[in-house]
Amino acid sequence: MALLIDGKKISSEIKEELKTEVGRLKEEGISVCLAVIQVGDDPASTVYVGNKKKACAYIGIESRSYRLPEEVSQEELLGLIGDLNRDDSVDGILVQLPVPAHLNEKEIIRAIAPGKDVDGFHPENVGALSIGEEGFVSCTPAGIIQLLKRSGITIEGKECVVVGRSNIVGKPMAMLLLKENGTVTVCHSRTRNLSQVCRRADILVAAVGKPRFFDDSYVKEGTVVIDVGIHRGEDGKLCGDVDTEKVSRIVSAITPVPGGVGPMTIAMLMNNCVEAARRKRSS
Ligand code: GUN
Repeated sequence: MALLIDGKKISSEIKEELKTEVGRLKEEGISVCLAVIQVGDDPASTVYVGNKKKACAYIGIESRSYRLPEEVSQEELLGLIGDLNRDDSVDGILVQLPVPAHLNEKEIIRAIAPGKDVDGFHPENVGALSIGEEGFVSCTPAGIIQLLKRSGITIEGKECVVVGRSNIVGKPMAMLLLKENGTVTVCHSRTRNLSQVCRRADILVAAVGKPRFFDDSYVKEGTVVIDVGIHRGEDGKLCGDVDTEKVSRIVSAITPVPGGVGPMTIAMLMNNCVEAARRKRSS
């Protein structure tokens, strides 16, 4: 049976480390503050934002909430981001996505000062990652690297197959695995012989957004499987992109859903907020 990679435990360890560090920063007179903007009242976004604020409170990060009405204009939202960019007491700015269709998401992401873009979505941070420079890294893929490292799984020299090419997960994931000296293949909806390509993987990152898409024909003995998906199954239970029951009979390690990748995303967001504040010390 496969080793279950415990994201809940590993994320708790990271949050404890961050809590200690935030305490130390406070002794130096440095506080940490995250501004969270939510447009409208999508229930899923409200839950995500609530979880982020809870994590902030636990670690000792101040969170400031800005709840804007569904019909807010692009100008008003950009105005608020501009104010937060100029506010030296704010270290990180996060606009919860998706935003309503009448708003221009790309322009919103570009409006956030790259030094406060704790989501790592700004083109300057994305570019920094691809040329190996310092910058904020998208939280889910950064969390996956931590899951692997803290589980003692070596990336260097391994065949890494990433399925999914989103800007938030697939592409930054590929860059991070490359930075760790993995041999990286990125697959997507037009990839031919997907299961055959996936069976080459020592490390398989499944991020296609389809419930239980990956069965035992996509893995080989010894593969480490990272399941990025989260879905509510017909049975009412949460499941990922991977058919865990079938796959875990073959592979050496797998992340469960829930309790695998999910908790790591928030832990890495907290890490990015602390990193933003650390930079104040060195500047
Ligand atoms: N919506 C779903 N995931 C995310 C995320 O990581 N950051 C933001 N800002 N919005 C999201």
